[in-house]
Amino acid sequence: MLAIRLTAEPDRLDTLALPVRSGGTAAAPAEPLATSVALPDEVADEAAQLLPLARFTGRTSEVRVQLRPGRMPDRLLLVGVGEADEVGWRAAGAALARAGKDETHITLGLPVGVTPEAVRALVEGLLLGSYRFRLGEDADPPELTGVDLAVTAPETYERAVEVARTTARMTWLARDLTNMPSSVKNPQWFAAQIAAAAADLPGVGLRVREPEELAAEGFGGILTVGGGSASGPRLVELDWHPADARTHVVLVGKGITFDTGGISIKPVPAMKLMRKDMAGAAAVVAATLGAAALRLPVRVTTLAPLAENMVSGGAFRPGDIVRHYGGLTSETTNSDAEGRLVLADALAYAVRELKPDLLIDLATLTGANSVALGSRTGALYSDNDQLAKDLLAAIDAAGESAWRMPLPADYVEHLGSDLADLHSAPRQGAGSVLAALYLREFTGELCDRWLHLDMSAPSWSDRDDAELARGATGWGVRGLLRWLATLT
Ligand code: BES
Ligand code: MN
Ligand code: ZN
Repeated sequence: MLAIRLTAEPDRLDTLALPVRSGGTAAAPAEPLATSVALPDEVADEAAQLLPLARFTGRTSEVRVQLRPGRMPDRLLLVGVGEADEVGWRAAGAALARAGKDETHITLGLPVGVTPEAVRALVEGLLLGSYRFRLGEDADPPELTGVDLAVTAPETYERAVEVARTTARMTWLARDLTNMPSSVKNPQWFAAQIAAAAADLPGVGLRVREPEELAAEGFGGILTVGGGSASGPRLVELDWHPADARTHVVLVGKGITFDTGGISIKPVPAMKLMRKDMAGAAAVVAATLGAAALRLPVRVTTLAPLAENMVSGGAFRPGDIVRHYGGLTSETTNSDAEGRLVLADALAYAVRELKPDLLIDLATLTGANSVALGSRTGALYSDNDQLAKDLLAAIDAAGESAWRMPLPADYVEHLGSDLADLHSAPRQGAGSVLAALYLREFTGELCDRWLHLDMSAPSWSDRDDAELARGATGWGVRGLLRWLATLT
């Protein structure tokens, strides 16, 4: 990871980056922001003259490199920060990390009066924008290893940089886990990765249930879905329980390490990316480890039901009846609706055994998420207006996106089954909504303190886009961490 340092006395001025604010309108000129730390006069003057000459607009992600042979700095990078809000700074950080990847070191002059929130966003952008997933050695690693942020009173920004670094590190973890091919990533491997990441953090507890324990305790949904695979399922339970916590949150994440659809097998194009079907589990685990790393005063218990949805003689059939943890039963009309079966067990277990104040789940649950909301926005469901509002605000502030969806009463009847308590995959349409309604059935007395995020769409990006790198996005880590930090 890039080394980011705050300094009042920049000692390396060979490559200097200067933020430029957009004029706002086409007519208004972009303006270089006056730097907090004094720079040689001629640099600022030159930057001001360069902008109109280069037709530099200052919009986010615009970067121009100016070579200055024989002078110091000999490379001047002008970086657009848009409106200089958090979105602008985050995108600018990512653009600088990409445009500057062949520099060895960059010093960036932060502007006078820059806020800690802006610095946080900038550092998140630098770190998230420089992410790349490689299996084994990177054949062509970036040259850029360090960025110095020049500012007077650097101590004002230390916590902001620490929070940004932890947020980015945990988002990297979620991305790494999600990008990993399923030839490596089976439930056992995933659980071992979580154990390794948790081992570095004092105060984090971990329990991994193996198939025999799942059977003894009645986790029928997880066992049913995992039954078709040669790699048995697991249930990971992580916990962070600081002494000063007043609120107990349970996070649940869908952890299907590959989703073939099972006997209701997916067609080729739909199956191609199904290694990402554990992105919900990756996000809740990473957010929990982030909360522990930042020592947030909130109790978090995180459940990651892990299974591989395969086709074999052991696979479950459409029409089978599953008995979930706690006793509710489902008629499994479509083996491709496997996520909700494993989540149902975890939600029921949380309600019965953990009795939290708030219950949140994240899942790459339905293709309908992107049909309704496009490729960047998660679908948020809750009967609790305050909880919905708080999560939406945190997600938005973190630079992620979600949209609240309804839990309509007239659709509940479609969940009925003649043979079981519930029908797991009714065919009425509105797939994301029906999946949410199904999950709600397992939340018992916590039904109005529960919130569900269908994150199938934003869990993946098909291209580099500001702080997102092509592939897994780590969606949810940033929003959850922001929200957890408000629960003091
Ligand atoms: N993992 C998929 C959902 C998914 C689709 C995630 C596309 C990411 C991208 C899920 O298990 C699934 O197959 N859902 C079905 C549900 C249906 C069978 C009721 C779907 O969305 O088609
Ligand atoms: Mn599926
Ligand atoms: Zn799935």
